[in-house]
Amino acid sequence: MKQIFIANWKMNLNVEESLDLVKKIDSLLKKNKDTEKNDVVVCPSFLSLWAINNYFNQKKSKIKLGAQNIFWEEKGAFTGEISPKMLKEVNCQYAIIGHSERRENLWESDQMINQKVRTALKFGLTPVVCVGETFEERKRGQRDSVIGRQVGRALEGVKKNEFRKIIIAYEPVWVIGIGQAVEPEDAAYSHHLIRKVLFKSYSEKIVAKDLRVIYGGSVNPDNIDSFICQDGIDGVLVGSASLEADKLVKMVKSFSCPKRKK
Ligand code: PGA
Repeated sequence: MKQIFIANWKMNLNVEESLDLVKKIDSLLKKNKDTEKNDVVVCPSFLSLWAINNYFNQKKSKIKLGAQNIFWEEKGAFTGEISPKMLKEVNCQYAIIGHSERRENLWESDQMINQKVRTALKFGLTPVVCVGETFEERKRGQRDSVIGRQVGRALEGVKKNEFRKIIIAYEPVWVIGIGQAVEPEDAAYSHHLIRKVLFKSYSEKIVAKDLRVIYGGSVNPDNIDSFICQDGIDGVLVGSASLEADKLVKMVKSFSCPKRKK
C-alpha cells in the first residue's frame, strides 16, 4: 500500500502564496524522483484550487489536489457551500471531512460528517475522515469510545465496495498545531483501534490491505520518521509544517522507511 502525505494549508495562504508554494514543491519533488512512489496531496483554500489545478496540468505534476471540506448536496440553495461536483471540476481527488476545527468551531456533527462522507464517495472523491479525542475526553478515559463512535458514525451506510476508498486520519485534538505530537506508539495504538472497530462491519482482509489510516497532529521533519516507521500508520496529515516547501519535501523524502514491514 502506498503511503500518503496530505498537506492541510487551512486558512493560511492566498492564491498567489499558494501558487508560489506549489511551484517550489513541484520543482523540488521532480528533482527527487524517489518521492514519486508515494502520494502527495495538497489541500489549499477553495479559492486557490482552480489556479493550482491549471498549474499542475501545465506542468504535468504528480501532486494531487484535495479540498478542506465539502457540502453534502450537489447543488441548490445552500449559501456559502461548495458542492463535490464543483470540486471534481477542478480535479480535486480528496476531501478532508470532519476536521476537529470544523467539529469545534462550526459544530459539525457525526451525522453531518456521515452525509459528507457518503456524498464524497458518490462523486468519486476520496474522503479523508478526521477523528480524534480531546484532551478532556482522554483524561476521562474516553479515548477508545470517542474514536469508536466517530469512526462508526462517519461510515454508517458506506457500502463494502466503497469502503476501500476511504482514508481515516487519527488526529488527537490537543496536539494539533502545538508543535508537540503524541508518542508514535500512542498513535499506533489508536490506529489499531480504528481498524478493530472497522473489522466489525467490513472484511478484515480489506481493512488490513486497502484502508489507509494516517496520523495528524504536529508532524514535522524531525518527528515524521517515528510515525511512518510504525506498522499500521499509512501516512500523515500535516498542517503548519507543510507551509514551507523545504520542510514538506524533506518530510515526503522520509517516506522510504526501511524498517517498515507493511
Ligand atoms: P498541525 O495540523 O500539523 O499543524 O498540527 C494538523 C491538522 O490539523 O491536520
